[in-house]
Amino acid sequence: MARHVVRTQVAIVGGGPAGLMLSHLLAREGIESTVVELRSRQEIAETVRAGILEHGTVNLLVDGGVSDRVLTDGDRHDGIELRFNGESHRIDFHDLVGESVWLYPQTDVFKDLAARREADGGDVRYGVTDTAIHDLDGDPRVWFTDVDGTEVELRAEFIVGADGSRSHCRGQIPEAHRKWYFHEYPFAWFGILAEAPRSSEELIYANSENGFALISQRTETVQRMYFQCDPGEDVNNWSDERIWETFRSRVNGNGFELKEGPVLDKTVLKFRSFVQAPMRHKKLFLAGDAAHTVPPTGAKGLNLAIADVRVLFEGLDSYYKTGSEALLDRYSSRALDRVWKAQHFSYWMTSMLHTPEGADDFARARQLGELNSVVSSRHGRAYLAEAYTGWPSAR
Ligand code: PHB
Repeated sequence: MARHVVRTQVAIVGGGPAGLMLSHLLAREGIESTVVELRSRQEIAETVRAGILEHGTVNLLVDGGVSDRVLTDGDRHDGIELRFNGESHRIDFHDLVGESVWLYPQTDVFKDLAARREADGGDVRYGVTDTAIHDLDGDPRVWFTDVDGTEVELRAEFIVGADGSRSHCRGQIPEAHRKWYFHEYPFAWFGILAEAPRSSEELIYANSENGFALISQRTETVQRMYFQCDPGEDVNNWSDERIWETFRSRVNGNGFELKEGPVLDKTVLKFRSFVQAPMRHKKLFLAGDAAHTVPPTGAKGLNLAIADVRVLFEGLDSYYKTGSEALLDRYSSRALDRVWKAQHFSYWMTSMLHTPEGADDFARARQLGELNSVVSSRHGRAYLAEAYTGWPSAR
């Protein structure tokens, strides 16, 4: 049976925040796109993801007309606390670099984008199967099977692979035309949602001789927290009491006590650093996790994806307005400039805050020296603040 042919200008593979944001920005300029996504809308909306948005990400959501719910339902954070040796040290973003971040879960970013695309009549197809991309150097096409079983051939001028860390699209770039950069870490995060009040106004990134812990938040009554664990850890071996005992041994002390409560959800998050470069091959552009992943310690994953999309949108918009591919040709190098800054920052935060395997006395004392050199210097704190709140985009 012949495939049902659908034509669009930009075919976007992946309907997470990156794909939907690109589709939205293009639509505002009258550029058509079709988004195909393997998961159902409900499945994406129910996945627990990280929660920190840079000011640039917030501006794009608000000024880009997606939603201002981040300003009403999100929480502005003007700093974080670095805790080590039993003491907390505030990194005051507002004072150091004049910026803030927002605590607003990625899940809500997705919900806002999905609702906006739906309200604007965007062509977003969830729950498709068998996606395959063809003819990257001719007339690019995406083949897929729609949720009702129709076999579709989507013809487009460009294809964007925004299909996440297990990207199908990135594998379509021949080996001779791409390079992979990898770094594995010998630990993972044990993440929980707990029913408890907030323990602190701001996020706490804690280094301790028993390992790293991060105290984040979700609402007045539900909190998000993580502790460093072995990548092979099984959540079934962890009772609530064992989980709280672990957190206590890493963050409590000197008058600070974590507020505890029933654990609602527990997962082990494995992480690694990864980049595929370049981020363009002929008519295919990669964006977000499809091209790079970072460990979550720098809170950069979603922000990097949105930054890619902003730069890619500028290139596509310029192409459709002027016919020139000059800005599209610079997409990969402009995006990678930020990607590598974020790779470094995420690696640095991870190595500075986690306890390495088999750490000896020297490793431990050196790490405290590093942490002290950051918190005791305005320059050190400002470097962290600038990176955490987000750099300006490369021209
Ligand atoms: C989160 O709230 O889930 C969160 C916050 C900061 C991070 C990572 C995750 O660095």
